Amino acid sequence: MSFSAEWLRLREPVDHRSRDKTLLEKAAAYLANKDEPVIYDLGAGAGSNLRGTALSLNTRQRWVLADYDPELLGAALDFLSTWADKSRPTAAGLELEKSGKLIRVEVKRVDLNENPAPWGETKPDLVTSAALFDLVSEHWIDRFCTALAKDKLPLYTTLVHDETAEWSPSHSADAQMTAAFERDFGKEKGFGPSAGNKAIGYMARKLQSLGYETALAGSPWQLEENDHALIEQLADGWANAVRETKSVPEEVIQSWLAARRARGTACVVGHKDLLAFPA
Ligand SMILES: C[S@@+](CC[C@H](N)C(=O)[O-])C[C@H]1O[C@@H](n2cnc3c(N)ncnc32)[C@H](O)[C@@H]1O
Repeated sequence: MSFSAEWLRLREPVDHRSRDKTLLEKAAAYLANKDEPVIYDLGAGAGSNLRGTALSLNTRQRWVLADYDPELLGAALDFLSTWADKSRPTAAGLELEKSGKLIRVEVKRVDLNENPAPWGETKPDLVTSAALFDLVSEHWIDRFCTALAKDKLPLYTTLVHDETAEWSPSHSADAQMTAAFERDFGKEKGFGPSAGNKAIGYMARKLQSLGYETALAGSPWQLEENDHALIEQLADGWANAVRETKSVPEEVIQSWLAARRARGTACVVGHKDLLAFPA
């Protein structure tokens, strides 16, 4: 499944303000005594997770950004160079200075469906991801968690869609549209049938069964008038997903979409963050 750099850019400030700060602080505390922790970001896209996490972590850090989309990895290097106070290209990627942090970045092209544990023998200090695990299947989660546990690695993941969505003002098709959207979310997204909004709970339980200590926290998008551009794109995406299910008449979709694209629409879209430490 492919994602546009523009869409990831649009959601980035909302993603950053929505993530749970307590779990981020706990992840940072876990790494605090490392000299230069290595953080492995799965499905890194255009690098938003690094930009949302790095300023809370150690003075020196090394990041590996793993994704199968070469255009997004290229955009990640461009966006990170612009974001940093100073940026220098290296053979593997970039060396950045940002607000007193020194961050070495490497990009890696990898298909996570084929290889859910692409770190191999070079074990990172933390595996992380943002907005990824609602795409994967339960079978993939089993493979991933087993590999994580074998290497005794901690995991910090943010912004995984859960089952809540509330739109206001209300529209008569809200329940129908939400149910159809969630059905579409459960379809194949490149990792087998997607666990969608059940993925994060399933992953937490799987990690617990492997001896991990886990903490879940909400990270909902709370979108209001200032986020209108994102609301419009979100509504368009929902309408397209619902069309795919062929379960809602086109005139109902059109009426709902017109209401959702109108000024004054607000919505809360549920997400969860998960922090998991090996025993
Ligand atoms: C919703 S985007 C999130 C991107 C980024 N983490 C962020 O927060 O902006 C999901 C990312 O997963 C990547 N992805 C999807 N399937 C993949 C696969 N099989 N292997 C590697 N990356 C994949 C996509 O290319 C995309 O960058």
